[in-house]
Amino acid sequence: MPGAAPDNSRASLHGHWSSRLAFILAVTGSAVGLGNVWKFPYMVGQNGGGAFVLVYLLAVLLIGLPIMMAEILIGRRGRRNPVTTMAILGVEESGTAAWRWIGIMGIVGGMLILSFYSAIAGWTMAYIVKSATGTFTGATSETVNAEFVALIADPLTMGAWHTLFMALTVIVVARGVERGLESAVRVMVPALFFILVLLLFYAASTGEFLTALRFMFAPDFSRLTPGVVLAAVGQAFFSLSVGMGCIMAYGAYLPQDASIAQTSVAVVLSDTAIALLAGLVVFPVVFAFGLDPAEGPGLVFQTLPLALGQLTGGALFGMLFFLLLAFAALTSAISLIEGVVAWLIETRGLSRPVAATAAGVTIWLIGFLTVLSFNVLKDFRFGRGTIFDNVDFLTSNVMLPLGGLLIVVFAGWFMSPNSTAAELDPAGGRLYRTWHGLAKFLAPVAILLVFLNSVGAFG
Ligand code: TRP
Repeated sequence: MPGAAPDNSRASLHGHWSSRLAFILAVTGSAVGLGNVWKFPYMVGQNGGGAFVLVYLLAVLLIGLPIMMAEILIGRRGRRNPVTTMAILGVEESGTAAWRWIGIMGIVGGMLILSFYSAIAGWTMAYIVKSATGTFTGATSETVNAEFVALIADPLTMGAWHTLFMALTVIVVARGVERGLESAVRVMVPALFFILVLLLFYAASTGEFLTALRFMFAPDFSRLTPGVVLAAVGQAFFSLSVGMGCIMAYGAYLPQDASIAQTSVAVVLSDTAIALLAGLVVFPVVFAFGLDPAEGPGLVFQTLPLALGQLTGGALFGMLFFLLLAFAALTSAISLIEGVVAWLIETRGLSRPVAATAAGVTIWLIGFLTVLSFNVLKDFRFGRGTIFDNVDFLTSNVMLPLGGLLIVVFAGWFMSPNSTAAELDPAGGRLYRTWHGLAKFLAPVAILLVFLNSVGAFG
């Protein structure tokens, strides 16, 4: 029905969120995860501190937020899995179903991300046990380092935790209870925040808090290479879960009367607060114990146990912290797999348990490439480094920004303002015009420039 009036009549095939708050909690559950606590600090450390943080914050606000709004509005309008939704809206709004490639790339990207995400979530689960058994009580940087090195050096242990995490993800998704996790997210995110604040007090007492503040917030613009800018933009996409149709899949279940803008702002604020807080805990410890901020993916596992080890009740808080983090990772993982599962159910006629198992086993197998990247295959390097480094770069720095670019170009240039306004703000007020300007011009131009710039620098 080309050129038809706004069509708000489609219903989702999998029911709807029970309320606006339920949706906010689900998207928050997707956004808050290892990206905030594990990845953000080590990316800041590897990419020169303040300059990276500044670009990250700008990218979150000017690129990530409008894309999140675009994904939700597209999802709610299409009410199907991202592939079908993009095909339906593509035909309605621009006469071609080719836009479904956005959904296809998103599904592949989500599976690739989850393959390494699960392996890292496995570390988090291993650290629940390590903390609870008092491994870190009175720890020194040597003992903490030795624990971490021993974990990643052993493919069997690492593989076992990866297997357990993937199994948990599949069980939740197979039983279709993701949307029952609302109340859990409601407790988990504030609790994670609370423990980080507690650790912040410890971090503030180390004597290196100012050094850390300066490192994170005083930009040294000489560090701002095209690669750093691309990494910061990619991290913004990763942390907000945008660019691969994940939020689009969740938007499909959003009730028609919920405000997309308010939801997005709430999610972006809590996600950013948790990432900054994690950095403010990690870096004082880094400087106080003379560690290397550019340590890499092990950074949070080599700093937080040190802080916890000095605290009274550190074993208990450590156990709680890693438990909450594993849980935050689980609510992100189910969002990463939901796209492919919804697609298998809707277009291949599989039952939910079969679809979840098939997708889960595939992702689990791919995940061993990451498991082995830290031990058996750690000297197998090409492109960006290990296999893990390459999968990470390909997804965060190529696929997510590219997907986000196409999504925002579709919403800004190909969807009629009537359709987008119908979802965002039927009165077409200032909020709508701001979003439209960002979606049409600023966000796509910024992503393109970042891409061109980094190709020029690397190519
Ligand atoms: N945002 C999550 C985190 O910070 C990870 C995640 C979940 C994600 N869904 C996503 C990343 C979709 C990119 C795309 O841990």
